[in-house]
Amino acid sequence: MKAALLVAVAALALSPGGARAPDAPAAAAFDGTWLFDGASDYPGLRAVQITQYGSEATGELFSDWYGMVPMRSLQISGDTATFQVETPSPHDAPTTWTIHRDGDAIRVTGKIWYQHVEAEGHPGPAAAVARFLLPPNPLPRLHKLPDNGLARTPPMGWSSWNHFADKIDDTTIRQIADAMVASGLRDAGYRYINIDDGWQGERDADGVLHANARFPDMKALADYVHARGLKLGIYSSPGPRTCAGYTGSYGHVAQDAKTFAAWGIDYLKYDLCSGEGIFRTAGEVKAAYQQMGEALQATGRGIVFSLCQYGRDAVGTWGRDVGGNSWRTSSDIEDSYASMAKIGFATGGQAQDAGPGGWNDLDMLEVGNGGMSLDEYRTHLALWAIQAAPLILGNDLRHMSAEIRVLLTNRTVIAIDQDALGRVGQRLHVAGPIEAWSRPLAGGGRAIAYFNRGDKRAVVIASDLGGSPAREAWTGQVVAPGSNVSIPAHGVALFRLNPAHFQKPAARPA
Ligand code: GAL
Repeated sequence: MKAALLVAVAALALSPGGARAPDAPAAAAFDGTWLFDGASDYPGLRAVQITQYGSEATGELFSDWYGMVPMRSLQISGDTATFQVETPSPHDAPTTWTIHRDGDAIRVTGKIWYQHVEAEGHPGPAAAVARFLLPPNPLPRLHKLPDNGLARTPPMGWSSWNHFADKIDDTTIRQIADAMVASGLRDAGYRYINIDDGWQGERDADGVLHANARFPDMKALADYVHARGLKLGIYSSPGPRTCAGYTGSYGHVAQDAKTFAAWGIDYLKYDLCSGEGIFRTAGEVKAAYQQMGEALQATGRGIVFSLCQYGRDAVGTWGRDVGGNSWRTSSDIEDSYASMAKIGFATGGQAQDAGPGGWNDLDMLEVGNGGMSLDEYRTHLALWAIQAAPLILGNDLRHMSAEIRVLLTNRTVIAIDQDALGRVGQRLHVAGPIEAWSRPLAGGGRAIAYFNRGDKRAVVIASDLGGSPAREAWTGQVVAPGSNVSIPAHGVALFRLNPAHFQKPAARPA
């Protein structure tokens, strides 16, 4: 609809009564439609359309990632035009772009989010921009969706992104599923095999999204995974493009949900990506997530819905309402102590938002990817478990050391994470580099963790262990309440205490 309007406006501007106004400067230099061949992948700049009315002008960019993007404050002076583009993130200031007229061509220079854009455009027919318009995607009215009954404890599984990025294929995913079983990780509780960004191909003439050539048969892959007692997850975006530039679900939300269900998908990570350039307000973002939440529920298949919009707009307060089972609390994790600790100690998600059915997602694990020490990986797992975060592994399960396998299958850390009460733990007290955290557990138990954030070994007095000795999760050492515990640099001492630890001694008879 917008295309038709634009074409009409362009036509009017060219001939109000058949001719240009006599005072129009020679600067009709930019008037018209300009097409860009060989656009860079991001943001996929395809066309510029400018309409000059004498000394005034309006215009739009057309990009694969964001559809039609208005040029704000477009000013034309001779052979140069400048304008502003709002950045994809509503939180950042607009950027200034320049266009130079150069013979028959225009040269556009600007920046969108982190990407510097330089492109040469040539005149084209106004109707050409219709190809670059996004399909309609009317957002639903906001209303609360029913609980889908899934994820009563935080989802546990594996995802391809942290280790493989988009270098993934059917064979690798099958091998990971096999390794999940052979390593004992499945039996320790890890069930989801999640294909992250990079599986998508193109849509056919009916709009149906197909996997790319690296995934020849998604249904067969799902069958393979299911036959091993595992579940299959997939990834998409509410925007037209995913973060790695693959096809997103914009304009095809219900259709994609049906495709996923027909393939036998059990989990969807839905990543805002290019949607942040289109859904500009918190309400629109929420509606875009609700749109997929509803579409998934309408399929009748139980599909865990994992929200990924980087913890913005207090997502924990509405994640469940849009059908979400988890919501990311931060931007992306990296395989370093600094990055992991920044997310893990930040309590970016609010404790009161999480519980059975809906969880604060601190992002996928980096354990085993090589960038942290074993002590740092223990801290990583303990922080996630204390905060009831999904445990989605991110390493190459096919080539995992015995030490990493032992960490990942640690029964105490898993039992804490999966505790049925579903309450999120919180910081108890801080002394120098030591932080004590506590998580209430079902039946009156409690998890206690002493984290050493310093880069030297430190000793802490275990004053939070209730009344009887407790076994430390990683070392197996039995620690008496109030005694000293030595914690390695960036390490943790973790305890799962049963209710008996906290029973008050019977009052002494007077
Ligand atoms: C990011 C997301 C990552 C990963 C990546 C894929 O936005 O936070 O976890 O999914 O996109 O392109």
